[in-house]
This record gives sequence, C-alpha cells and structure tokens, in this order.
Amino acid sequence: MEIEISSSIHLMYVSEIQQEMYDSAQRRGTGIAKRSIEYLSKKISEGNAVIATENSEWVGFCYIETWSHGKFVANSGLIVSPKFRNRGVATLIKNRVFQLSREKFPNAKVFGLTTGLAVMKINSDLGYKPVIYSELTQDEEFWNGCKNCVNYEILMKKERKNCLCTAMLFDPENNKTNSVVNNQPENQYNNEKESHLSV
Ligand SMILES: CC(C)(COP(=O)(O)OP(=O)(O)OC[C@H]1O[C@@H](n2cnc3c(N)ncnc32)[C@H](O)[C@@H]1OP(=O)(O)O)[C@@H](O)C(=O)NCCC(=O)NCCS
Repeated sequence: MEIEISSSIHLMYVSEIQQEMYDSAQRRGTGIAKRSIEYLSKKISEGNAVIATENSEWVGFCYIETWSHGKFVANSGLIVSPKFRNRGVATLIKNRVFQLSREKFPNAKVFGLTTGLAVMKINSDLGYKPVIYSELTQDEEFWNGCKNCVNYEILMKKERKNCLCTAMLFDPENNKTNSVVNNQPENQYNNEKESHLSV
C-alpha cells in the first residue's frame, strides 16, 4: 500500500471518494458536511490531501483545510474504503496528514469535529485534546460547512456552543511546553516510566 501526498494524478479517484463519504454517512446515520467534486478535486490537485492506494485501487483519503487566515487547520473528510477498514489505514493516513499540516502550517492549531470513536482515538494519540466549540475557529465559512449536516438544527439551537460532534484540538503552543518540560532532567523518571508502559 502507498500513502502519498495527493496530486492531479489522483483526480481519477475523486468520484469514488465522494460517493463513499456520502454512503458511509448514510449508513452511520450521522451528519456530514458534504463536499463537492470541485472542492475535493482542488484539494487533491493542490497537494492538500493524503491518499492511500493499493495496486491502483483507492484505499483511503483525508484533506487539509485552513481557517481564520491560517490560524487553524482541520484534517477533514477522513474516509477508508470499506474493504480496507480495521487494518490501521486511517491511523497511517491521519499521521501523514497531521505531519503535512504541521510542516505547512507550523503555528496553526489543528482541530477536528467528529462523532467517530476511531477518529477520537487517533486524534488523542496525536496529542489532540477535547475542547469546547468556542476554542475552535470562529470563521463563518467553517461553520457554514455544517449546514449540510443532518444535525445543523441542533447546532443552531445550542447557539453553536455544542452539538453531537466532539471537538478536539492540537495546540502547538502546549506541545512546545510539553517537549521542553519532558527534556528536563527531573522528568527523566517519568519518561522512563512512560517508555516501560508503552512496551
Ligand atoms: C473511521 C474510519 C476512517 C476508520 O478507518 P480504519 O482504517 O478502519 O481505522 P484504523 O484501523 O486505523 O483504526 C484506528 C483505531 O480506531 C479503532 N476503530 C476502528 N473502527 C472503529 C469503529 N467503528 N468503532 C470504534 N473503534 C474503531 C481501531 O480499533 C483502532 O484503535 P486502536 O488504535 O486502539 O487499535 C473508517 O471506518 C471509515 O472510513 N468510516 C466512515 C467514515 C468516517 O466515519 N469518517 C470519520 C469522520 S469524522
């Protein structure tokens, strides 16, 4: 399996990806911000997406969006083709798209809204923390994306303070502090303990 930063050679998969995003949301009965073919194609050709393929077959996909003039980044539209699920593909794709987001926008906060346990697990392994919606971008355009979601009425009733999705945020500032603290000698014991735990 190959996991690559997207380019125009991957445009051939765009209809299949869009269809699977829609079908999966229907099956789960959850809301989804619907993405047009044009929007997804732009992400793919600009290199703002990560795509997994195997023997020229589409396996998985995720793309980068920026909000509030680059202060926030979202890794959105994560989707794995049903026959490739539960093999760690989403984890690999999210890791790659997260790394790409950090390279392109090192000072941006990275966030996501999700109802999915798999995504919550992956995000928390990457260092995201659950937050309230007011911690996210307040860019109108981002929230307009929720208009296509079946739960939009709930979001509006709650005055955009919360909804069915869990908000998760990676703040590079907090991460910087953590890595400095963890490098200090007095934290060596904790680090050792942690590495034993992860074995
Ligand atoms: C959600 C989705 C992307 C997961 O893809 P995947 O390749 O099967 O995920 P992975 O194999 O990398 O699993 C990641 C983790 O989530 C867990 N997981 C996977 N699917 C899960 C599910 N349906 N419910 C609960 N946990 C799940 C895995 O056990 C794994 O946990 P672990 O690291 O503790 O072992 C895939 O099921 C999908 O495309 N679903 C439809 C679209 C969707 O829901 N997208 C997310 C929108 S926010």
